[in-house]
Amino acid sequence: MVYPVIWHNNSVSLIDQTRLPNEYTVVEIHRSEDMAQAITTMIVRGAPAIGVAAAYGMYLGAREIETSERQEFLAKLEIVANLLRSTRPTAVNLFWAIGRMMQTAYETLGTVAEIKQALLETAQKINAEDLQTCQAIGDHGLAALPKTPDRLIILTHCNAGALATAGYGTALGVVRSAWKEGRLARVYADETRPRLQGAKLTTWECVQEGIPVTVITDNMAAHCMKQGLIDAVVVGADRIAANGDAANKIGTYSLAIVAKAHNIPFFVAAPLSTVDFELTDGSQIPIEERHPGEIYQIGETILTPPGVEFYNPAFDVTPADLITAIITENGAFLPGDLLKAKKVL
Ligand code: MRU
Repeated sequence: MVYPVIWHNNSVSLIDQTRLPNEYTVVEIHRSEDMAQAITTMIVRGAPAIGVAAAYGMYLGAREIETSERQEFLAKLEIVANLLRSTRPTAVNLFWAIGRMMQTAYETLGTVAEIKQALLETAQKINAEDLQTCQAIGDHGLAALPKTPDRLIILTHCNAGALATAGYGTALGVVRSAWKEGRLARVYADETRPRLQGAKLTTWECVQEGIPVTVITDNMAAHCMKQGLIDAVVVGADRIAANGDAANKIGTYSLAIVAKAHNIPFFVAAPLSTVDFELTDGSQIPIEERHPGEIYQIGETILTPPGVEFYNPAFDVTPADLITAIITENGAFLPGDLLKAKKVL
């Protein structure tokens, strides 16, 4: 099993996801500023994984604060929280995890040393809970998948796997559970321009476990569906509004439209920490815009002539009415029924 974020020897070990699949490198993070940088540069990425990483980043920041005075400590911790919050805007798990860490700090009555210890324990708890949550999502997803054919071909987008979580994955957790139960024939992985998380990371995870995987470019999905090659689509999410509108990697929305046109079920698999119940619908979800270099350059090669403009939104929002079900750790729910999922907690 792959664990992208591990607390080890008083620091955080991150698998460097910018180097996969060609190089497996582990980066040791000792300082909150380095954790913020690792999240911004996508050494660690994927909504639940950046939540876990930010939680440890909060502890690293707390460790650096040299005061025994509670109010001063809390004020300085707020600065660490703001630094980590400024890294990536869309995945709500980041803000959720930082909020949980700040709550621990405020609610721990005791010395600053005791608050620091409580912060480490909360970060480890967030890490362990996410792993369990993903395994539950995998099992609920397996139950929600179409009953025929016996062995399904599942299309996924981006990487919502072990690398994007504490381990196991959300969309790829469903794939893993289906594979273990003999219900999976093959995964189709969209390559996922511009950062190619599908081609580089989803494939890497599948190859590790012997799961058959076929890569297609993003513009091939409709054709594959028309040819009867796809039985279900399962994707992850970065932030889901209370009405079930779901933000995920750019290209997910068009995938949902073509799935609907071909009568193919479209599932979103995500933990409840990805649901932002404060947002009534998806239009309120902040969409990250990234550097144009992600579009115009591959390696050393520049693809476009000078004088061209670029627009590089990293996520899009799939309207709830295109989603068959949202698979959470508490079961699969209709997008409009997310409050029921929360009540099961
Ligand atoms: O920009 P990324 O690679 O962080 O985007 C990741 C995704 O869009 C994933 O699908 C999402 O975070 C779900 S991860 C379980």
